[in-house]
Amino acid sequence: MKVSVIGAGNVGATCAEVMANRQIASQVVLLDIAEGLAEGKAMDIMQCAPNSKFDTVVKGSTNDYSTTANSDVVVITSGIPRKPGMTREELIGTNAGIVKSVIENTLKYSPNAIFVIVTNPLDTMALAALKISGLAKNRVIGMGGALDSSRFKYFLSQKLNKPILEIEGMVIGGHGDTTMLPLINLASYKGVPVTDLLTSEEQEEIIKSTMVGGATLTKYLGTSAWYGPGAAVANLVDSILYDRKKMIPCSVLLEGEYGHQDLFIGVPCIIGKNGLEEIVELKLNASEQEKFNSSVEAIKETNKELTNILG
Ligand code: APR
Repeated sequence: MKVSVIGAGNVGATCAEVMANRQIASQVVLLDIAEGLAEGKAMDIMQCAPNSKFDTVVKGSTNDYSTTANSDVVVITSGIPRKPGMTREELIGTNAGIVKSVIENTLKYSPNAIFVIVTNPLDTMALAALKISGLAKNRVIGMGGALDSSRFKYFLSQKLNKPILEIEGMVIGGHGDTTMLPLINLASYKGVPVTDLLTSEEQEEIIKSTMVGGATLTKYLGTSAWYGPGAAVANLVDSILYDRKKMIPCSVLLEGEYGHQDLFIGVPCIIGKNGLEEIVELKLNASEQEKFNSSVEAIKETNKELTNILG
């Protein structure tokens, strides 16, 4: 099974490393526009193999898309971060342009691939990818909620002082500080609702920490995080390649689900060999639905920029 990761930056390379280390794919291609970067990172990852004991073959390429031929999954992490003085609109324009060229180039060589979009602003870039590619909605999946949910589980486990693997928690809504919706009412420790175990102040604190989870890391690191995003992408790819049908919150096209349509937003999805296999409709309470609706409005506002760019 072959996965191509476009963008060999922090997230792309980490995702490739996790996929190799866990032997999720037999072949991984890292591709970047920066001369030699993907080759160097691929070589470094391959030199882990004797110690980490994997036989996944990782190759790097500077912009030669023929190396990506016949990929089962294409992960798009290529993009630029927002630079000082750059408006949100300029960022969307630049990254949409990058996503466009990547989709066109990869589709040529891998017409049957499933696309996982990671480039920010995520929900808008995933919509762009769908529009540009003209693919069926099951083949374009945005990775956002998987990462936000793992951050939610981390903060829950810290506050509860319980093992992180014994925590369940899900974040839906937009993949942004103000648009995501950590579903505290559904979170549990070994099936025990966390709302029975934490005060409302503690619950609020966890929700807030989750929502600014990415920004907190950026403050520490001086750039956005990569271990969490890389692992979240790899887990999503694993569910596709092995048809595991895991329920993972992903940014996908709504067509009436949750009362909305014509946008990509995070909702629980069953992910298998066809990519998006089913959207799971949770029963949200009134306050959750209201927050979800606000998230929809915010994403649609951002998406307007895309309409200006893509027509
Ligand atoms: N084709 C291929 N690669 C490209 C292109 C392009 N047209 N344009 C940019 N790139 C590459 C850059 O050279 C860089 O190596 O994309 C890579 C992006 O890597 P980083 O800047 O390290 O960004 P990273 O932290 O990996 O984040 C990638 O994921 O979470 C999101 O907001 C984040 O949009 C960003 C993306």
